Amino acid sequence: MTILVTGGAGFIGSNFVLDWLARSDEPVIDLDRLTYAGNLENLRSLAGDPRHIFVRGDIGDFDLVATLLAEHRPRAIINFAAESHVDRSIHGPEDFIQTNIVGTYRLLEAARGYWNALPEADKAAFRFLHVSTDEVYGSLGPDDPPFSENNRYEPNSPYSASKAASDHLVRAWHHTYGLPVLTTNCSNNYGPYQFPEKLIPLMIVNALAGKPLPVYGDGLNVRDWLYVKDHCAAIRVVLARGRVGETYNIGGWNEKTNLEIVRIVCRLLDERRPRPDGASHASLITFVKDRPGHDRRYAIDATKIARELGWRPAETFETGIEKTVAWYLDHPDWVAHVQSGAYREWIGRHYGE
Ligand code: NAD
Ligand code: DAU
Repeated sequence: MTILVTGGAGFIGSNFVLDWLARSDEPVIDLDRLTYAGNLENLRSLAGDPRHIFVRGDIGDFDLVATLLAEHRPRAIINFAAESHVDRSIHGPEDFIQTNIVGTYRLLEAARGYWNALPEADKAAFRFLHVSTDEVYGSLGPDDPPFSENNRYEPNSPYSASKAASDHLVRAWHHTYGLPVLTTNCSNNYGPYQFPEKLIPLMIVNALAGKPLPVYGDGLNVRDWLYVKDHCAAIRVVLARGRVGETYNIGGWNEKTNLEIVRIVCRLLDERRPRPDGASHASLITFVKDRPGHDRRYAIDATKIARELGWRPAETFETGIEKTVAWYLDHPDWVAHVQSGAYREWIGRHYGE
């Protein structure tokens, strides 16, 4: 048996692949275009491991995906590949439309062609798991209940609109063609290998470099934070036991304002890597212009996945953020390579491109 993972060189995808192969000998075909966010250094520990078959390519390349499916005959596709950064989607939505909408459409079509031709037993067992976001539900007021799977879709950014569109395509491919799909909508992840354009790693690397810590607006926007390995565990559970055609919300039951997050990161860095001048890293906090259309609050009601599938996060925010800060402190080379662009040279050396 084999699974096909897309976007497996990105933040969550690489954590998923590493965790999968730490638990199982079932091979992973890893299809990733290696955009700026894809980083094969995340998967360095798998070098030479025959269970990890890396293919550089685009989910929107129908012929490539069809060939991979025919060749490796996976029992499941787990689609992580996406443009994922809200700020980039505001500056340039085109890539988000291409990968998140057109790419998902072509991947679904290739999957449908492959699935249709499978023998009945394999056809029944096949799964297409689409990894999505809580941002499709829009923004909550301070007293609103957290997002359940029944909330209306009200995406507000080009990123969340493109993810919402992809979720709708996945749903339609199930209802119209019978493709056995599962969709997960998860809250903000943090942990090892997160590209330092996202809040938590950006704050860590800036603080270590003595640079300003840019907090948008008043810093009181709320996100629900989940340690990435808990997200990966939830995806494994949904893949194994989720009901076909259903969506599952995944979250950490952990709402915090951005300012709280930044202050916790600063406190941990003060303990582990005090500044030479003795000042707190929090003295670097700088309020900057807000993100246009900035959603005020996200929160996930993860009752359904707990009730139906027995999944709950293993980490609290306190344990998860300690591990995360420790990981960044322990991996200065990874940080330096990502920041300098040297990781692309590594890819070139490794693949001769
Ligand atoms: P990421 O940006 O770190 O990684 C995305 C990966 O996809 C990269 O390796 C990139 O090279 C690859 N990719 C991009 N376009 C591609 C294409 N056309 N074909 C093949 N590969 C392509 O993203 P992430 O944070 O790991 O997010 C993974 C998925 O999880 C995304 O679908 C995202 O919407 C979703 N999600 C993320 C979060 C979060 O907090 N990061 C939360 C909920 C859901
Ligand atoms: O909710 C799930 C989503 O979480 C995922 O679907 C996205 O892929 C992922 O990028 C993330 O989106 P956010 O926009 O919430 O994450 P980001 O880390 O960019 O920002 C988190 C919060 O911090 C948000 O309110 C904006 C704020 N922020 C972010 C940056 C980069 C700042 O205040 N300063 C910053 O410099």
